[in-house]
Amino acid sequence: MSLTEIDRIHALLPHWVESSRQQCSYGKVASYIPELSKSPIGALGIHIIDASGHSVSAGDTEISFTMQSISKVFTLILALMDIGEEAVFDKVGMEPTGDNFNSMLKLELVQPGIPFNPLINAGAIAISSLIAGASSTEKSCRVLDFLRLLSNNDSLSYDLDVYRSESDTANLNRSMAYFLKDNGVLEGAVEDVLDVYFRHCSISVTCADLAQMALVLAHNGKNPLTGEQLIPRRYVQIAKTFMITCGMYNASGEFAIQVGLPAKSGVSGGILTLVPGRYGIGLVGPSLNRKGNSIAGVALLESLSREFDWSLF
Ligand code: DON
Repeated sequence: MSLTEIDRIHALLPHWVESSRQQCSYGKVASYIPELSKSPIGALGIHIIDASGHSVSAGDTEISFTMQSISKVFTLILALMDIGEEAVFDKVGMEPTGDNFNSMLKLELVQPGIPFNPLINAGAIAISSLIAGASSTEKSCRVLDFLRLLSNNDSLSYDLDVYRSESDTANLNRSMAYFLKDNGVLEGAVEDVLDVYFRHCSISVTCADLAQMALVLAHNGKNPLTGEQLIPRRYVQIAKTFMITCGMYNASGEFAIQVGLPAKSGVSGGILTLVPGRYGIGLVGPSLNRKGNSIAGVALLESLSREFDWSLF
């Protein structure tokens, strides 16, 4: 009997996790959000799930971590579902920047002064202001409910220590948000918009939660386990395109060449990625490379993609 791909992944994954884990010592955990400096630098875990619900995991998959920038993919989708493409792209652009994720350089350099894309901090802050809801609390609840639905996990919640730590120290994001307000990009009170943003970045997940969310994107918005269409196909197409062009920030080109899959990273060390039509993948490795992506996580995805010929290109 020949082995299925998922059987082969199951056999190889523990070895690859251990060899990729060695990269952790070459990176650093994020410390500009003070609470994140407590993350376990040597951790690496991955969870892969297929359309029939078969899953494989290896490494430190029991740890919880905050979504950080990974949540930006889903706030973008929610804003698209709330107000449509035209209204969203009136406030954020569609282009990669080549700059760091927290750069505000181009906001002043390039007219009309809207963020280049929804996955950089400035763009995601603008998106937070577009989520429907009568108050920042209602907007935040809608984001959390949406992620609970996609992850099939009703107990998903905030890591309030990380939330407070970011909110108390976010001078750069705060200055960016006030700048955006002055440029006419932000709807509503700046501090309310920032609260929505800090809250969705602090949603606590496991690798399995990310893999479930990714599985829905891998199946064009449908949960293959229930058959329910949770996101319109067009909005998944938009989100996956941004994941390819901007999901790994100013390392997105390199990641497209080395791995070739839509992906989104966060400074907690999480990465959500997917093999279209097949797998949802969630991983965590808090030690980051110079571009802010999980150093061991990227190495592990390179090995997997090469071995199973997953690149889309
Ligand atoms: O706004 C921030 O800086 C964080 N809440 C999110 C940044 C992030 O995850 C960038 N990712 N690589």
